[in-house]
This record gives sequence, structure tokens and C-alpha cells, in this order.
Amino acid sequence: MAPRNDGRHDLDEARRWLEQAIVRFQDRPVGTVAASDDGGDELNYDQVFVRDFVPAGLAFLSWGEAGIVRNFLETALDLQIADAHLDCHVPGRGAMPASFKVHTDDQGRDHLDADYGDKAIGRVAPADSVFWWLILLRAYVRATADTGFVERPDVQRGIARILTLCLPTQFDLYPALLVPEGAFMIDRRMGVYGYPLEIQALFHLALRAALELWDGTPPDSERGHAELTPELIRRRVGKLAYYVRANYWLDLTRLNDIYRARDDEYGAGAANQFNVNPDAIPAWLYDWLPSDGGYLVGNVGPGRMDFRFFTQGNLLALLGSLIDDATADQLMALIGQQWTSLAGDMPMKLVYPALTGDDWELLTGRDPKNTPWSYHNGGHWPVLLWLWTAACLQTDRQAWAERALDIALRSLPDHDWPEYYDGKYGRLIGKQSRRRQTWSMAGPLVAQALLDRPERLDWIAFRDDPPLEACPL
Ligand code: GLC
Repeated sequence: MAPRNDGRHDLDEARRWLEQAIVRFQDRPVGTVAASDDGGDELNYDQVFVRDFVPAGLAFLSWGEAGIVRNFLETALDLQIADAHLDCHVPGRGAMPASFKVHTDDQGRDHLDADYGDKAIGRVAPADSVFWWLILLRAYVRATADTGFVERPDVQRGIARILTLCLPTQFDLYPALLVPEGAFMIDRRMGVYGYPLEIQALFHLALRAALELWDGTPPDSERGHAELTPELIRRRVGKLAYYVRANYWLDLTRLNDIYRARDDEYGAGAANQFNVNPDAIPAWLYDWLPSDGGYLVGNVGPGRMDFRFFTQGNLLALLGSLIDDATADQLMALIGQQWTSLAGDMPMKLVYPALTGDDWELLTGRDPKNTPWSYHNGGHWPVLLWLWTAACLQTDRQAWAERALDIALRSLPDHDWPEYYDGKYGRLIGKQSRRRQTWSMAGPLVAQALLDRPERLDWIAFRDDPPLEACPL
């Protein structure tokens, strides 16, 4: 194993690349491009992605360079949809873009061009942007103590708009949030529509952040929402946490329950309320699930339990204390026991296992980028190192985080910081992977910043249990 000093040298290089990835708008740094290598095509990797900037922003905060983070937060706020429209071609009021780009016109004036999913491949709606914005806003305030920024009326109004975007129920009755296909980091068709775990974990973290940041007074523009109060948010957090714990957590005891469940029950007393058919339990799970570990499944809905392990959703749930401490230990125990399948040679895998055969055909639409064990479909993403490190620190497993960072730094710098790796154990540079992918550098940099000063965990984590509230579902 390479000595840690070599890692430091590589991380210094990553920091230099990260600084070169900075995008300026009217002479102010406002974000970083997704990748400095365009891969020879005309895609959107030269844009500032909201979700990609979060680890970069945390890295800048750890170096005391808070200006770029504040400018990014302001820019995304300026791009927030301000008015309600009944026109289906305009994103919902409060929405923020997936990404934005700076255009300079012939007179040398800068303009922002944002993508709300209306230009994205597959026209996917970035539901996660508003949540990442709130999470980064909280980290910024905690790192800098700049409470004046969050108290500004426009920032308070932005928070209130996000709340009125995502709190109302539409056709469904669950505390979980309903989103279309590809609404988060997995922004391609992968059978992740409905109630994906990552969205629930982000929603939960963001609501908890809002409880800290919002002053509780709906601005004039939100007058129509008299029910918008901190109490309402607190209750939604409690119901969401209760619901996720009751319905997404899977360990051997729960697997036994599902295995022997009855189907087609009607009425309030139904045990198998989502009518999940025991025959739908995939064969791989029986051997893979350890006796003393567990995880949150990927999605739950009518007649549906997506048993795949989604790493980002599980780690975000742990960071927000969406699961309690004992359950978090069980999650870490599972990852520890299944390290080869979940992390392998490049921590960590985004989703386990890959969709293959008919599942791949039907759920991805035969997507050539998401072939089995590639990209979103079982590929390995170095960006996940920051969340892994945070989860290790939250559960007192610092050595596990150091080990993962060492493994990653054995190949990442030599391979020029690829976006993702392919293969069951992440040994191949991703087939269509960009080099010098910004969040592949930011992930390890934040991991190191957290290891250096573990108290930085408080910028992003919630250590206390949410106020649980039983909900009938
Ligand atoms: C891919 C990823 C997405 C990321 C974007 C820019 O589309 O799936 O999560 O934001 O690339 O890096």
C-alpha cells in the first residue's frame, strides 16, 4: 500500500486542478465545471452542476475559500424559478437548475444559461438540486458563521419557495417524495422513478437544514401558504423518518417477514401494505444479506420493493440520522462484510448489483452507457469517498475511511481522476469516463479534509435523532 505522504502530494495536485476548474461570472468565481476533459464531444461537462459542486464547495470551505461557495449559492438562488406558472413547460416555482453555464456575448457581457432538465439528455428533472443547495447553505453557514447571509430576505424567500415546492401532497399520501425517472445523481433511465431512497434521504437532510436556517416567517410571496410553519416541517421530518425506517430498512428478520408475507390484503390492518409479492425477492439477496447487517432498499411503492443497494442514498440517510445509531452500525457492518462487492478496487460502487438481461433491457431501455457493471449500473464512483468518510467518522470507524482513501489514491491520480470505473470490482477506467472529473478530485479532497479535522463533519451531518412521528402507512 502506498504511504500516505504520496497521497498528500497527489491531493495537492487535485487541488490545483480543482482551482483550474473554476468558472467565473462577471469576474466572480461562481462554481466549477463538471470535468475539464470534454471527452471529445459536445455534451454538458463544461457546465457547473449543482450536485457536482457540493463536494467542491466543501473542499473550498475547508481551505477557508468561502467566497466561491457564497457566490455559487447566490447564483443558484438567482436562477430559482420565482413565479408559479400553469404552463407545463416552465419548471415548478422554487425549482433550481441541474446546471448552468456562462456565455459571454459580443460586447463582452456575461449571461447565465441554465438547464432545468429542459435541455438534459432524456429531459430528466433535477429534483435534487434544491436539496443540495440547502445542504450546502447550511455547511457554508456552519463553516463561516456568516449568519448575515442566510438572514437576507432573498435567501429566506428562497428557502420558503423550496419548502412550498416540495411539501404539498399531490396525488399520493405518503410522507415520501414522488419524483420522475432520473431525478437525482442517477440521471438516466434506471428504474429509479417513484420514491427512490436517495431523494428521500436528501429531502430529509434538506428539511432538517431548513429547520435550522429558516426564520419561520413566510415572506409576502408565500402568503397563500398559511400552514407553512416550522412545526409543519418538523412533523414532516418525523413522519418521513418513521416511514423510511418502517418500510425501507431490510435485515434478515424483515426479509423473513417479506418471504412469508400474504398478498392482496385490504384495509388499515394490512401487514404487507404495499402488496409486495414474495416471489419478487431476487435470488442474489438470500446469500448476500449477512445475518448481522442490513441496509435501506432502493425504492418502495405499490407492489414494489427495489432491493438494489444504492450507496449514496444509504450514506446520506446515515449522515442525516434518518436511521438510528444501532441501525447505522448494522449498515456499516453490511458494507464491511460486503466490501469486495460494494467497494473493491475503487471505492465505491454506486448501485449493487447491476441490472442484467431482461431487467437491463426493460428498465434501462437497452442503454449502451449503462451496460451491466458500468457507469450508473454497477460502476464505481470516486466522488462517493467524501460521503463514505463522513459515514465512517459518524460511526467511529476512522481507519475504514483511511483505508478507502489509500485504495483510491493508488490509481486515481495515475489515471487522471476519471469520472467512474467499470467492472465488478472497479478495476477498469469507465468506458465513456471523462478524465479530470471535478468531483472525482473533490471527493478525496473532502475525505482528507474530514480526516484532518473530524469536527468538520458537523457542517454536513445531523447527529441527533429526528423527532419521530408515527404515520399510518
Ligand atoms: C452525469 C451524472 C450526474 C452528474 C453529471 C455531471 O450525468 O450522472 O450525476 O451530475 O454527469 O458530472
